[in-house]
Amino acid sequence: MGSEFVDGWSVVQVLGEGAYGEVKLITNSSGEAVAVKIVDTVKHPDALVNLKKEVAIHRMTKHPNIIHFFGHRRENAQEYIFLEYASGGELFDRIDPDIGMPVGQAQKYFTELIAGVEYLHSMGIAHRDLKPENLLLDTFDHLKITDFGLATIFRLNGRERLLDKKCGTLPYVAPEVLLKPYSAQQADVWSCGIILVAMLAGELPWDAPNSDCPEYMAWKDGKNSLSPWTKVDNMGLSLLRKVLAPLPSSRISIEQIKKHRWMQRTHTNDDSSAMSNRPLGKRLCSDLEFGGVASEEDIRLCQSQPAPVGMSATQASLPQALDPGGWCFSQPPNLEDLLLSTQLHSTQSTCSQTSYQKLVKRMTRFFVKTNFDETIATLKGVLDHKGYMFKINPMSEVTVSTVDKRKMHLVFKACPIEMDGKILLNFRLSKGCGLEFKRIFVQIKNSLSGIIMKGPVSWPIAIATNCVP
Ligand code: ADE
Repeated sequence: MGSEFVDGWSVVQVLGEGAYGEVKLITNSSGEAVAVKIVDTVKHPDALVNLKKEVAIHRMTKHPNIIHFFGHRRENAQEYIFLEYASGGELFDRIDPDIGMPVGQAQKYFTELIAGVEYLHSMGIAHRDLKPENLLLDTFDHLKITDFGLATIFRLNGRERLLDKKCGTLPYVAPEVLLKPYSAQQADVWSCGIILVAMLAGELPWDAPNSDCPEYMAWKDGKNSLSPWTKVDNMGLSLLRKVLAPLPSSRISIEQIKKHRWMQRTHTNDDSSAMSNRPLGKRLCSDLEFGGVASEEDIRLCQSQPAPVGMSATQASLPQALDPGGWCFSQPPNLEDLLLSTQLHSTQSTCSQTSYQKLVKRMTRFFVKTNFDETIATLKGVLDHKGYMFKINPMSEVTVSTVDKRKMHLVFKACPIEMDGKILLNFRLSKGCGLEFKRIFVQIKNSLSGIIMKGPVSWPIAIATNCVP
């Protein structure tokens, strides 16, 4: 098995990285799989308050379109949050850069997204960072909203408050969030609209919804003669006009979205969202409002909210009844051993020796015909040729650091995994925009086409002898 997490449970894969730590997949010998978010609170002391709030809010939830929260545990400086494992990977991985996805598929995911957001709002929760990277898919291709790191309570005991922290990821934030104060529900609805554009067109419509951004100003002026709007049919455009209404008071509600004709329409399987496939001179992702290279923290700028009149800050941000401290679990699989008695083992290495891999479904990987060393050499050649900065660690994991077109940091990792005598080259985003990462991945993949193994790839539990992808 991979590196031991607690007795009986092993880390088999790094699923993702966030501003404060990693999410890893752990499994036991009965085949149960759990995702665990690990945050080192010594390295990230500022994370502690946010983590408490994230846990308190996430544990309030129980819905088919919200990733299930099993519990959390603190040991020394490490905070562990145990979550349902979504084996289908991230939604962004299903989006073809510049193309999107078939419209019927986009309708299904959007319907599930809206159901999840409607549920959150009914609980008084605003997510505030809805984007394809925070939408996961389970084994049955059901969408699951995750990452409550920026979530907050906007309604408690029937009393609503306006929010006033600039929160979220710029291309997905509503215009009023940059102006504040803003209404929680309408701001989340806007982000859902941007996600729908990404699904239907494979690109984001603008860097930020402000007056410095010509693409946003054109949309505000009622123009839709340019990409991405030209890739969306009239009924889709009619919905997007209502969801992406710049004035929050004119924006469509979730109730009305569900009734819109586009949501009711039956789309055939081979319906393609792309009305044309022309190349675009425009980005998939964006930089900060004020320019320059931005850190993830710059964008995920959110702390607690000021309390509304009659509500203390503690009540507003962390309902006491929901945060008794210590352990908590709700209908977990057989998780006791993760939570009780046993000391946690160090899981420092991201690229440790492992045998059984329960691989998350990921499009950003492929088998190659070359052996381990040839694969690394060929990859190095391609990265050198393209002028990327990269480093290779002793486990042969290649970390590429770059900035995207909008000067945003983009860091991704490529890791060769030996499996049944074949080499699987696995790419994973570490920091930055998921869609932009996907676009660069496609370019690198094209340059490696000479060594890529053709034919179908199956993703069973497989034997691996090198890196955890
Ligand atoms: N990436 C981040 N969280 C995850 C989860 N719960 N399941 C699968 N992949 C993830």
